[in-house]
Amino acid sequence: MTELRRDFLKATALTTAGLALGGFMTASATAPDERPDGHLTAVGRLTDADGQYVLPLLPYDYKALEPVIDEATVRLHHDVHHKAYVDGANKARQELAAARAAGDFALVKHWSRELAFHGSGHVLHTLYWTNLTPKPGGEPKGDLGKAIADDFGDFTKLRAHLIRATVAVEASGWGILAYNVLERRLMVLQVEKHQDLTVWGAVPLLVIDVWEHAYYLKYQSKRADYVAAIWDILDWKAAEMRFAAARSAAV
Ligand SMILES: [Fe+2]
Repeated sequence: MTELRRDFLKATALTTAGLALGGFMTASATAPDERPDGHLTAVGRLTDADGQYVLPLLPYDYKALEPVIDEATVRLHHDVHHKAYVDGANKARQELAAARAAGDFALVKHWSRELAFHGSGHVLHTLYWTNLTPKPGGEPKGDLGKAIADDFGDFTKLRAHLIRATVAVEASGWGILAYNVLERRLMVLQVEKHQDLTVWGAVPLLVIDVWEHAYYLKYQSKRADYVAAIWDILDWKAAEMRFAAARSAAV
């Protein structure tokens, strides 16, 4: 694992741990820029120094996940769809600030919903890019491996549960392995859109996007084939780091 990638994983781990405490926390780690093969790979935070949400750079080349996920899908998914969530979250945040300044909350319901949707979309996509890897390292080990055995029986049972939950998401959403810092145990979530059907206290450790934009170019309607294929490029090292950060933030 490169130093850059370690920094980024640390940053997203801290960011997800921050979510458990009720807000978007700016990570303390800063990943430096790096341009292997002519591509930017430095990423790291949900927000910039001014507090604006920012689109993270991919930690690998656009075609690095082939053949599981094709270059065209990654380009569209990251550069267009993820960016739209970043822009939407910034817009909602600005509108809520303007409402406070004007003392006019006529549209507070609308912009609150927009912030939940786009802000959650930004968080989950930022995690998604970093829990995928061209060089998977096998099953989860260490403390996360032990916790999976304690909470699910064994890794095979978690795998069956997470895959079935992910494939069965109604319409657009996510399959998520999370650590609930209030319950102090792992859980599988079946999230609709980006923000529905979660549980308070759940910190996402590993996320699988099953919006059609994540797979339709290559897999068309065969969502189950996409989920089966993506399983082989999940980065459990990233999940292990997020688990360690989430446990340290447990309340
Ligand atoms: Fe997506």
